[in-house]
Amino acid sequence: MSKPTVLVTGSCGLIGSEVSVFFASQGFHVVGIDSNHRAVFFGPEGDTSWVLDRLRREIPGYRHEALDIRDRDRILALLNALRPNLIVHTAAQPSHDKAATIPFLDFEVNALGTLHLLEAARQFCPESPFIHMSTNKVYGDRPNSIPLTELETRWAYADPAFENGIPENLSIDQSKHSLFGASKVAGDIMVQEYGRYFQMPTCCLRGGCLTGPNHSGVELHGFLSYLIKCNLEGREYKVYGYKGKQVRDNIHSEDVARFMFEFWKAPRVAEVYNLGGGKANACSILEAFSMAEEVTGQPMQWRYLEENRSGDHICYYSDLSKMQRHYPAWSISRSLKELFEEICGSWTERQTSKTI
Ligand SMILES: NC(=O)c1ccc[n+]([C@@H]2O[C@H](COP(=O)([O-])OP(=O)(O)OC[C@H]3O[C@@H](n4cnc5c(N)ncnc54)[C@H](O)[C@@H]3O)[C@@H](O)[C@H]2O)c1
Repeated sequence: MSKPTVLVTGSCGLIGSEVSVFFASQGFHVVGIDSNHRAVFFGPEGDTSWVLDRLRREIPGYRHEALDIRDRDRILALLNALRPNLIVHTAAQPSHDKAATIPFLDFEVNALGTLHLLEAARQFCPESPFIHMSTNKVYGDRPNSIPLTELETRWAYADPAFENGIPENLSIDQSKHSLFGASKVAGDIMVQEYGRYFQMPTCCLRGGCLTGPNHSGVELHGFLSYLIKCNLEGREYKVYGYKGKQVRDNIHSEDVARFMFEFWKAPRVAEVYNLGGGKANACSILEAFSMAEEVTGQPMQWRYLEENRSGDHICYYSDLSKMQRHYPAWSISRSLKELFEEICGSWTERQTSKTI
């Protein structure tokens, strides 16, 4: 039997590159799409050319398409020719704050680009699972309406209903999302609709903080990666509001890819999952500073700014119970400590080989 083909959009990004390497190791032929728009969004620090070199080195037969997902005709033509067995859509403008300065580009990539891929999939490979990277920002600032308790280094949910984190049935309506959150809502709903309306095996993964050694973290996107980079370079990290006690849950990008593999093996229609590190891998910014200092041995330089980022979550961690109920073979494989160590190791290596 010939190898199944996976089409990975955003293949040079954090998640796309991990997914490409992971599925190649599971015997897939990998075709990646990436236009290096991360460099357009974030400048030279966001450049992912080093990842493309790595994919070419590490994945035998890797095929790269330097295509922009906004290019409808070329996306349709590629899907027609390729008819992949699986589509993993990770290409995006990923920053909450950046979107307000580039509203048309943000929407065209996150919403319209997603529609191009969905429609191409419906026309040429409707039975192939379509996995979409969505975000917890689709909930807007609704999680901030949950009563909180202030602890010494973090905020915590005071309502026991959220003890295990945010479930998928939290409303995504009538809250403040940022333009990024709104464009991701459009993509998320469209992916669900292609599932429900056309009975296609689609899935939205609403990510928490996805991270790992392959992240090109920048101030506007990539929380732990950027925080550890700042620590290593003695660069000042700015904390925006909430006393630095805002909580994020962190998951290794390989655990994201491992979940996608489980979905590929037993796809469902129009599913939605909150995918993050869960309660066990949640930490506040203040706690992350201490952990970074412990791992690198260097003090964190940081500055506190009173004003929080607009619509930012005060406390967010994912309830992983639905994922684990549907896919019991999947669980988190990396602890928070291991995540810090791997990211630190990767930045040190990139600094040494000057590939940053
Ligand atoms: N990293 C996180 O913490 C996080 C959290 C929640 C959700 N997500 C979601 O996961 C997905 C992947 O995020 P990531 O962290 O890997 O982002 P990333 O920026 O590292 O990767 C995205 C990739 O897509 C490419 N790209 C962007 N626009 C494109 C276009 N028009 N055509 C082709 N390629 C394009 C970029 O060049 C980049 O390599 C996104 O949908 C993001 O919203 C990420």
